Amino acid sequence: EREAHLRSILATVPESMIVIDESGLVASFSTAAEKLFGYSVDDVYGKNVSMLMPSPDREAHDGYLSHYLTTGERRIIGYGRVVSGQRKDGTVFPMELSVGEAVANGKRIFTGFVRDLTSRHKIEEELRQSQ
Ligand code: HEM
Repeated sequence: EREAHLRSILATVPESMIVIDESGLVASFSTAAEKLFGYSVDDVYGKNVSMLMPSPDREAHDGYLSHYLTTGERRIIGYGRVVSGQRKDGTVFPMELSVGEAVANGKRIFTGFVRDLTSRHKIEEELRQSQ
């Protein structure tokens, strides 16, 4: 019942939502995230979230997590940041990332909300060129 409710939320939120555990492994992946990244939940479940980004962040992301876990220094949590995502087909796109932190069943989890900035960047580029 509660799980069905959560699943229906994941299916309908327009923003892409990704939940990871402390090690960066994907614990949930919303329907909008499937569409945006081109991966199904089965492709990403239990895998490292770093598969959703290009180098050099891909190789560095485990380090970002452990840096946060050992120092408590936030660089994205509470601020948000524009970063690059990478789709299953290899294309790289601009995205706005917000990260939150929560505790579920005694374990720390991170919730990521992703907004695709592709069309905004395209419009800004066209504006620049028309000036
Ligand atoms: C930290 C990149 C996705 C969770 C960071 C940092 C970068 C980054 C650059 C900060 C490094 C620093 O300045 O030290 C990316 C990219 C993503 C991505 C390019 C593209 C897919 C995610 C997602 C989540 C997440 C989906 C959570 C579900 C975190 C956490 C930290 C972090 C918990 C450390 C805390 C903090 O710096 O505030 N990531 N990230 N990241 N990221 Fe990601």
